[in-house]
Amino acid sequence: MPQPEREQWSTRLGFVMAAVGSAVGLGNMWRFPYLTAENGGAAFVLLYILTTVFIGLPIMLAEFTLGRGSKRSPIQALASFGGDGWKPLGGLFVAAGFLILAYYGVIAGWTFRYAADAVFHGFAGSPAARFQAAAGGWDAVLWQVLFMGATIAIVAAGVRGGIERTSLVLMPALALIVIGLDVYAATLPGAGAGYAFYLKTSFADVLSWRVLADAAGQAFFSLSLGMGAMLTYASYLSRDDDLPQEAVVIAGSNFAFAFVAGLMVFPIIFAFGLSGEVGESAVGALFISLPKAFASIGAAGRIVGFLFFTAMLVAALTSALSLLEVVASSAIDGLGWSRRTAALVCGGLITALGIPAAFDLDILDLMDKVAGNVLLLVGGFFLAIFVGWVAPDPTGEVRKGASSTGWLPAWRGFLRWVVPALLLIVLWFSTQEAWDSLTTLVSHLTGG
Ligand code: PHE
Repeated sequence: MPQPEREQWSTRLGFVMAAVGSAVGLGNMWRFPYLTAENGGAAFVLLYILTTVFIGLPIMLAEFTLGRGSKRSPIQALASFGGDGWKPLGGLFVAAGFLILAYYGVIAGWTFRYAADAVFHGFAGSPAARFQAAAGGWDAVLWQVLFMGATIAIVAAGVRGGIERTSLVLMPALALIVIGLDVYAATLPGAGAGYAFYLKTSFADVLSWRVLADAAGQAFFSLSLGMGAMLTYASYLSRDDDLPQEAVVIAGSNFAFAFVAGLMVFPIIFAFGLSGEVGESAVGALFISLPKAFASIGAAGRIVGFLFFTAMLVAALTSALSLLEVVASSAIDGLGWSRRTAALVCGGLITALGIPAAFDLDILDLMDKVAGNVLLLVGGFFLAIFVGWVAPDPTGEVRKGASSTGWLPAWRGFLRWVVPALLLIVLWFSTQEAWDSLTTLVSHLTGG
């Protein structure tokens, strides 16, 4: 099939911003702070940095190499390096993108609705009742559809005109909002207790395989790895980019966003004496405890609440763009669809797939455990094997444009041996968690 001319990022900064936009999402704004507080504070942060460096970065570079080297979307990129037998792995990536965006759009819809609530109603009234109304049923679907509509429109507008432009505006705005809220949170009485809760170091908590698996799983999800998002974005690069350097910048920014998000969340929760509620559920603390805090400071709370949920929404949107881009670009390359048709049809199907999750939190949880953990890790495992053993000369591809190259053989060795071994350990634990979610769902559906 003759390939239409492929779009390219207009600047290097545009690519980096889009990739940071993909990485920085709901995973940073809430999941990271929560895991840190639960799992040993600063010691967990250290573990997270280690898994980012030793698992995340090698895989990110692997995805970049395949994307830039082939200039194709995932299925064809894998085929062009390893033959048609590897196409199913690309199919797995597309499936993961489908499933992740299906439930991600639902959660993003909640943040959309909360941001709108801050403007139009404020947060008075029972926070639990508000969350029930927002997170179950057609109301949730309405906001999910609005969010997905925005995602589809931006992807349809193209790599440069849609994704790059949006990321160049939204990512700096997001940084400003988060820093502003950090400063505000620091002025609250009780902020110190919040920081202490967040970062209280306990090395004893960290020394377990489970926690290692949590850190690695989080690093993977947060860096958007294991489903071809980074591969697809890199396929719009020109030859002379310094891939390793860009990977380091992206992973570093991703960590920075996650870390400072914790500096805003916990002081707010502690300043309003809501710390007792944090342990119950991650989602609950975010959508129930925080609105309670915002309600108790009246008009100022509406402003702070608006900024907070807008930050979540922006972070989610730029991540959703990359999830849809994986699916849509596969339809463009593989089926010859126009970009607009691909964005609309794929986005529409994904929205429909998310509707059950808008009605039932257990379904949402199961989708998250299966796609967000297991599928990404399986994808990462095979990516490591593929670039480590199968792809003909990945180091040669990285060399084009890289400023330092002496460590490249070590990178490949890592992909061959260390990364797959670590990922197998992590998978062992994630599969168990996914299984637990499945049994919960089944017993709930059968009325148990
Ligand atoms: N990295 C995003 C987040 O942290 C989620 C994501 C995963 C996006 C996989 C794209 C691909 O929320």
